[in-house]
Amino acid sequence: MRNAASTLAELVAPLSEPEFLAFLRERRLVHLRSANSGCYAHLTGWEALKRLIEQGEYPRRPDYFRVAKESVPAPSERWRVDGKVDTIRLEQCLSDGFSIIITHIEQHVPALGALCQSLSAQLLEPTYIGAIVTTGAEGAFRLHYDFEDLIILQVEGTKRWQLFGPPVSNPVRGMAKQAAPNGAPMFDAVLEPGDLLFVPAGHWHHCQTISGRSIHLGIFLLPPTGWHAAKALTSELLAEELFRTPLTRIEDATQLAALETEVKRRLIEKISAMRLCEFPAEWNRLRPF
Ligand SMILES: [Fe+2]
Repeated sequence: MRNAASTLAELVAPLSEPEFLAFLRERRLVHLRSANSGCYAHLTGWEALKRLIEQGEYPRRPDYFRVAKESVPAPSERWRVDGKVDTIRLEQCLSDGFSIIITHIEQHVPALGALCQSLSAQLLEPTYIGAIVTTGAEGAFRLHYDFEDLIILQVEGTKRWQLFGPPVSNPVRGMAKQAAPNGAPMFDAVLEPGDLLFVPAGHWHHCQTISGRSIHLGIFLLPPTGWHAAKALTSELLAEELFRTPLTRIEDATQLAALETEVKRRLIEKISAMRLCEFPAEWNRLRPF
């Protein structure tokens, strides 16, 4: 049994690390056949996932464990018994064409936890991993794009990935919704066990399982932006009473003007002190998800 990749270099082989980092910087799509020789199959194949679930090793947050078909969730009574996830019911959902989506699975698989730590330390970007199990022609999600960069690792079975352009440029969660494209796919390929697909943030995609069961891992990378730095700054402002004074309770126009001057002065001071070069380490420490 081959050891799971635990570093970026091992993960993206046979690409070199600098080659992959160039794709990451440019947010350019990459498909690597037989990367890392399918070294995650023993950790997150269906039998291994079932074992984890039966041992109670799965995320408890409801948004971290979902069962859905084309973005429509299956009621949790269909796959939970007495509040616990039930693998027999999950298999029934799979045969009914639903997909299982487990995010933050690295918290329950030490080798994946180590990989996330290594990636985060190197890239200064929070990372987490989702496992998606599907059967049938319909995908877990309808056509969508993610706000995070995604490294997809096909673990078991095969899956057709279709990507549609143009991508949404540098998306950040919370921005206005974009209209879905309706042209022909710019990428259409079937991923096989061991394949790696780098899907940059903002790339519209839809998946289909070709036959049998498919399992893939998605490694989510959340790079900080200037907006995140500005948002962190506004959170800091809340600690200062100056920004918490109710404007509608000031009757005197001169007092209000004085407050405005003081608020602007403090904002300029805070903005001038903003250090974007220091923010990624801070953001990575905060792990904002
Ligand atoms: Fe996605």
